[in-house]
Order: sequence, then structure tokens, then C-alpha cells
Amino acid sequence: MIGFAAPPLKRIRIGFVGVGARGTAAVRRICQIPGVEMTAFCDIREEAIRGCQDILKSKKVPPAKEYLGPEAYKALCRECACDVVYACTPWMLHLPVAVEAMRCGKHALVEVPATMDVEGCWKLVETSEKTRCHCMMLENCCYGESEMLALNMCRKELFGEIVYGGAGYLHYSTNRGIKSGPTWRNDWYIKHAGNFYPTHGLGPIAQCMNINRGDRFDYLVSVDTKSAGPAAMAAALFPPDAWQRNVKLKAGDYSASIIRTMNGHAIYLATSCFVPHPYSRINMIQGTKGIFMDYPLRIAFEKEFSDGTFPDKAFDDVKTEEYRQTYKHPMWRDIGAIAQKVGGHGGMDFIMDLRWIYCLQNGLPLDMNVYDLASWSCLCEITEKSVQNRSASVNIPDFTRGAWKTVEPLGIHTVDPNKMGF
Ligand SMILES: NC(=O)c1ccc[n+]([C@@H]2O[C@H](COP(=O)([O-])OP(=O)(O)OC[C@H]3O[C@@H](n4cnc5c(N)ncnc54)[C@H](O)[C@@H]3O)[C@@H](O)[C@H]2O)c1
Repeated sequence: MIGFAAPPLKRIRIGFVGVGARGTAAVRRICQIPGVEMTAFCDIREEAIRGCQDILKSKKVPPAKEYLGPEAYKALCRECACDVVYACTPWMLHLPVAVEAMRCGKHALVEVPATMDVEGCWKLVETSEKTRCHCMMLENCCYGESEMLALNMCRKELFGEIVYGGAGYLHYSTNRGIKSGPTWRNDWYIKHAGNFYPTHGLGPIAQCMNINRGDRFDYLVSVDTKSAGPAAMAAALFPPDAWQRNVKLKAGDYSASIIRTMNGHAIYLATSCFVPHPYSRINMIQGTKGIFMDYPLRIAFEKEFSDGTFPDKAFDDVKTEEYRQTYKHPMWRDIGAIAQKVGGHGGMDFIMDLRWIYCLQNGLPLDMNVYDLASWSCLCEITEKSVQNRSASVNIPDFTRGAWKTVEPLGIHTVDPNKMGF
């Protein structure tokens, strides 16, 4: 499936499975893109489907067919007139929905992480290969303005050889923690250690470092802290008999891993959601000639300092802004203003959707394939295995089965808004 392109689909019909917070936001975004139809909504909650039908009504487009119930996605995949199944369900359901979709000849786009274990990753790879249907993870952070700036600068080889990257998801999302009571996310945190959300920070860094396209993940080591934040929060907010006071999480407050690649490079990967920390995806690239750091954005090159030193105060806001403008990714240059207006994590959600739609409409390969999905998502299980074994190194599978050695790096692509009918 590397470089795979499906025949062009001028009109793309989408069936949505799981229209909660993320799915509804996707419906709202995507219905602004020409050439796309929402043909089905599936959920276990009728009110969620109603909300999405209201969005279509407000756009004066025909209602979508409704599929209600825990297994209704199977009927959607079998019967519904759609080309793409877009899954925004809880984590554990991405796998069965995507497999069913591909078996029924539909491209499967799934939210992050695509699946939570290595076996599930292989299943998605094998099903995509067998059915010749795309299986892409909706890793929106690969389309962030800073992430795409970094990719563009890496492709111009401005940083020299990239030896080290930093990636993370540091998001003190108290509303998603145990404060909200028993939920599917909390169910995972209770049962599992390791990094439960590796892909947001990692995806863009993996693209910059040519993972699965000239290099690949070899092995990693992981360390988790204990869980202290949720108990402290519960003690402050809930009475002693509350569920929140009596639940124990296996997920630590901070999970840190270091991944070593076959070419001898490394990536630091962290996730932390239960202790106060400003939002950050780290987004760091260290090359032999310079460095890119984010949160806040800072860029510096050794050549700026003629005496051969690289001072402690190497970053300069004016120079960083100049680099940001000079090397803006063409996608952000062409449609950044529209994307920011539509919104969705500062515009990156819209850019992601615009790009896969453009690729399908024009018969182009997608930027992220099923091997990327598998290499990034499998780390949920691999980090947990390392944590459970006193941080022993754990091998990371080669889902490309050797093809990574000859695949070209991801290029710099954009979309043509006029061709799309904007
Ligand atoms: N990329 C991003 O920036 C981003 C942001 C938020 C969430 N997410 C991801 O999106 C996914 C959904 O997260 P959310 O915050 O929208 O959760 P949510 O709980 O708000 O939505 C999940 C929806 O799935 C529905 N559902 C549950 N079981 C179902 C079934 N058997 N069949 C059909 N529908 C079913 C639920 O009723 C709910 O409406 C997760 O994978 C999450 O990690 C990604």
C-alpha cells in the first residue's frame, strides 16, 4: 500500500461512525468542502445523530441515513452508499469498524490512536493490503502550521542530518480525566500503563525523520511515573465515597520513552494528562546544523554565529519569525487563512480533511498510509510492555516488511482550492 492511489472519486460519500465530540466537529468541518456528501451517521446515541442531522439541515443538504446501535456500523459498512468510513468512536472500536469498512470495499479513516495493540496494527495492515482500500489514521497534528514548517525546513535539509527529535502530548485535560466519572478513556487508564496517546507528537516528527521512508523505529525504552495527580484532584473535589476517590489508575502521571531508529537516530516521546502542565506537543528537531523547538517556536542555526560558537541565547525572535515566514509550508501558504477561519485546532483539522479529500478526488496517494498508522499506534502496547518490564528495551515491528529501505521520503504537497470548487 506504499504509494497506493485509488481511482479518482470526484464525488466522495462519507459514512460517519461515532459522532460524539470529535465526530460532530468533523461533520461540521467537512460539510464546508465541495464535492463531499455525508450519506450516513452511526452512533449508539440517538441525540448525537440528531445533532449531526441538524448540521446538514442548516446547510440545506439532504439528511444522512441513520444507523443506531452498538453493531449498527456493520450494516452501515455493508449497505450504505459511501466510499469512505470515517470513525471517531472510542479507541477500542476503531479496529473492528475499519476492518469491516475495508472488507466492504470502503476506505477507512480512523481517529487516533488507530488501534491500541500490535496485533490490531497487523490486522489493519493486512486488511488494507488484501482489500486495496486506504486505511489512514486521522493524525491532524501532521497538518499543524509549525509541524508543516518543520517538515518543509527538513526537506530543504536546513538542519543537516536530523539526529534527534522530541514529541509529546502534554495536555492537562481534567475534563477528560477521572473527574468526569467512568468513561471509556478512564477505563483504559485504569487497566493500562505506558503511553496511551503517542501519535499527536510523534506523527509529525516521524515524517520529518523519514520513518518508514528511509529509516524505521528499531526499539524503545519507557518509564512511567506513579499515578498521583488524579488522587490529589479527587481528594480536593470529591467526598470519600465518590467513585473518583476509590479508583486506581495504572496510567502514570508522566510517561516517557526513547525510541532508537535503524539509522542510529532517536526520538524522545512523552505523554502527560493528569498533572498541571501548559499544553505542548514538544515538536523538536535536532540536526547537525541547527535546531527547531516549539512551544514557543524557536529556530536557530549554527551558521548564524560566525565565531563557531552556539551560545546559550542562540534563539532570536526576529530571526525565528523570518524563518517562519520564509519557509511556511505551501499548504499553509495556500489555504492557511481559510483553515484558520473554519477552525479546528487552529485550522489543522480542516487542512487534514481538505488534503485527504483532494487526494481521493484526484487519485493521489495519501500522505499517511497504513504502515504509518501501525508504526505510530503500536507504541501504546510497546511502551506498556517496556514499563511492565522495568524499562527493558522492546523491539518495534517493521510493518513495511523491509520496504522502508527504498521508499522515498514524504514530499511537500499542497491542494488546489480552485480545482476543488471553492
Ligand atoms: N485528533 C484529535 O485532535 C482528537 C481530538 C479529540 C478526540 N480524538 C479521538 O477521537 C475519538 C473520539 O473521541 P471523542 O472525544 O469524540 O469521544 P466521544 O465519547 O465524545 O465520542 C465517541 C462517540 O462514539 C459513540 N459510540 C460509542 N460506541 C459506539 C458504537 N459501538 N458504534 C457507534 N458509535 C459508538 C459514542 O456514543 C460517542 O458519540 C477518539 O479516538 C479520540 O482519541 C482525536
